[in-house]
Amino acid sequence: MKISVAIDGPAGAGKSTIAKLVAKNFNLMYINTGAMYRAVALVAKENNIDDTNIQELSNLIDSLNMKFINDDLYLNDENIQDKITMPEISSIVSKYASIKEVRSKLVDLQREMSKKYDVIMDGRDIGTVVLKDSKFKFFLTATPEARAERRYKELKNRGLSVDYSTILEDIIKRDYIDSNREVDPLRKAEDAIEIDTTNLSIDEVVEKISLSIKNNK
Ligand code: DC
Repeated sequence: MKISVAIDGPAGAGKSTIAKLVAKNFNLMYINTGAMYRAVALVAKENNIDDTNIQELSNLIDSLNMKFINDDLYLNDENIQDKITMPEISSIVSKYASIKEVRSKLVDLQREMSKKYDVIMDGRDIGTVVLKDSKFKFFLTATPEARAERRYKELKNRGLSVDYSTILEDIIKRDYIDSNREVDPLRKAEDAIEIDTTNLSIDEVVEKISLSIKNNK
C-alpha cells in the first residue's frame, strides 16, 4: 500500500516549504500541484490561449509532459520552476485553476502519480478530492499578512523588485477566487488536522506533521 500525505491551505501558508521537509523525513516524492496549474497558465499565456477556450486548453494539457525531479517541475524536460513562480503567473493562475476541464485532467495526472509513488502532495483540493482516502491530511493556515510577508521575502531574496501591498492584495484576491469557485473550492477536509502556522517556525510545523504521521502509520 502506497503512503500518501495531503497538505492543503491558502497561498503562502508554508505548504511547499513544509511538504519538502516532511518528504525528506519519510522518503516521499513531493508533488506540488499548484506548480501544475501554474504550468498550464504559463503555456496558455505563451500561446495566447484564453481561459474561455476550453477545447484548446484541454488539447494543450494532453500535449504536456510534466514530471517532478528534486521537488522542481519539469515540462517537456525543461525545469520551469523559476518561470512559474513569477508574479505575472501568480496573478493569472487562479483563472485557469477554476476551469472544470483543466482540474479534471490535472487531478487524473496527480492520482496516477500517487499510485506509482509514495507521495506528499500540496494544493487546495488534495484532502477533499485528489487523495480523499488518504490517512494523513493536514490543513495549514496563517493570516493574510503573515502569508504576504513570507512571499515578499521569498521574491526579494530572488532579487525581484516587489511591493508588499501588491502581494497582500494578490493573496486576498486569490483566497477569494480559490475559496469561492464552483469546482473543488479550497476547504478543509473534515478529517484533516488544521495547523495555524502564523506564529510557528517551519521546524515546529514539520515536527507536528512528522509526529502525527509516525504515530498513525
Ligand atoms: O499553491 P500555488 O499558489 O502555487 O497555487 C497556484 C494556484 O493554483 C492557486 O491560485 C490555486 C490553484 N490550485 C488549485 O486550485 N488546486 C490545487 N490543488 C493547487 C493549486
